[in-house]
Amino acid sequence: MAVTVVVGSQWGDEGKGKVVDILSPEFDIVARYQGGANAGHTIKWGDTTHVLHLLPSGVFTDGVDCVIGNGVVIDVRALVDEIQDVQQLGIDLSGRLWISEHAHCILPYHQAIEKVEAAETIGTTKRGIGPAYTDKIARTGIRIGELLYPRHLSQRLNDEVKRVNTVLSRVYGRPELDAEEIIDEHVKLGKTISEYVTNTTHYLHDALKYDKQILAEGAQGSLLDIDFGTYPFVTSSSPSAGGVCTGLGIPPNAINRVIGITKAYCTRVGRGPFPTELFDGVGDHLRGVGAEFGATTGRPRRCGWLDLVALRYSCRLNGFTELVITKLDVLSGLESINICHAYENDSGTLSAFIYDINAMIDPIRPRYEVLQGWDKDIFGCKHIDDLPREAKTLINRIQKFTGVPVRLVSTGPERTQMITLAVD
Ligand code: GDP
Ligand code: IMO
Ligand code: MG
Repeated sequence: MAVTVVVGSQWGDEGKGKVVDILSPEFDIVARYQGGANAGHTIKWGDTTHVLHLLPSGVFTDGVDCVIGNGVVIDVRALVDEIQDVQQLGIDLSGRLWISEHAHCILPYHQAIEKVEAAETIGTTKRGIGPAYTDKIARTGIRIGELLYPRHLSQRLNDEVKRVNTVLSRVYGRPELDAEEIIDEHVKLGKTISEYVTNTTHYLHDALKYDKQILAEGAQGSLLDIDFGTYPFVTSSSPSAGGVCTGLGIPPNAINRVIGITKAYCTRVGRGPFPTELFDGVGDHLRGVGAEFGATTGRPRRCGWLDLVALRYSCRLNGFTELVITKLDVLSGLESINICHAYENDSGTLSAFIYDINAMIDPIRPRYEVLQGWDKDIFGCKHIDDLPREAKTLINRIQKFTGVPVRLVSTGPERTQMITLAVD
């Protein structure tokens, strides 16, 4: 049994795409278990920069199969575009890509509903994620397998579009959607993806039986988890490691490694609490040097200091066996570096991450430990010995505070810009 999980430990965009791409040669299968095209996973080699939204980040590694599991919500239009983009790079996905027939579809009415409901209050990516998961839980969703049966699909979509049109027109005074158009398009899309559609849970069970190595790729981050994140400013799925079992249909005891990805600072896109957020020149430095603009929506990311309290919470939530620190290079040139080791509010000092209504009612303030910065440009460094003492101190402090060993340190967006650390 050998499943490794890669999970974002913060609010997403930690560099999961780069890490999964680098680790892929060690695996037979890379599988996405939740989220949808709200994800934007960037992979860069040479002059090519590719952002994946639905396809697993193992897609650029020869011989690696890619699975989109039942826990993912799929906008089939976006998926077909993405498959075509990748095929234009000369990558053939036939016999390599497997899409769960049990994954739920994101349909145009999900995006229409999101626009008038949660999009602005939460600051969502407007990809229809919340409404699609709502339909799944309400048992009114349409699953990928249903796209392959045109007569059945036509009936189901007719009923669903009628229901949604009532809400759109009567509640929100918006124009109704054309059911026929959606049906025609999705019958065609169903045909286009049919060769990839299968029962991915049975496929993964067989893979486990034959001791294949599986990498489960998380989207978003633990602090955006529907249960354990800063609700309601979260996504509608379970990015944390708990989501792997229900999102792929594999047993918990198949998981033997959980890799947490953390930036050397914090970012967040959209609304919601962010205790260490910076509004000064340092925030501008992180956004500018780190190119912190959304890979999916292009929105500027909110930036702040590393929050060790939140990171330790993520470690406990996911059972990280190792950490990967990304974007350490972005801190170069800062005179001092703050790391948050506790919070305080009017009632005193707090040592646990707060992700409930209290964080909004009684705002917390971060307490910082101040570390010395470094001048040396470490962009692209590949050996630990090339890092200045101050950077090593930061890495050690992260390990000590969380109790989790750091296995890799990323110093640039390219595949090769990575330091491997010896882990006992
Ligand atoms: P993901 O959603 O977790 O896969 O992360 P994103 O792709 O949304 O955002 C990470 C961004 O940082 C991308 O633009 C990456 O190319 C870039 N990146 C990843 N690692 C590093 C690093 O170590 N240093 C720098 N400067 N950029 C990095
Ligand atoms: P990756 O996989 C960063 C955020 C949105 C919003 C909230 C809810 O690239 O790390 P949604 O559209 O999911 O309903 O939006 O979650 N969000 C992300 N932030 N990275 C992501 O994915 C995100 N996916 C969603 O900005 O605050
Ligand atoms: Mg991203």
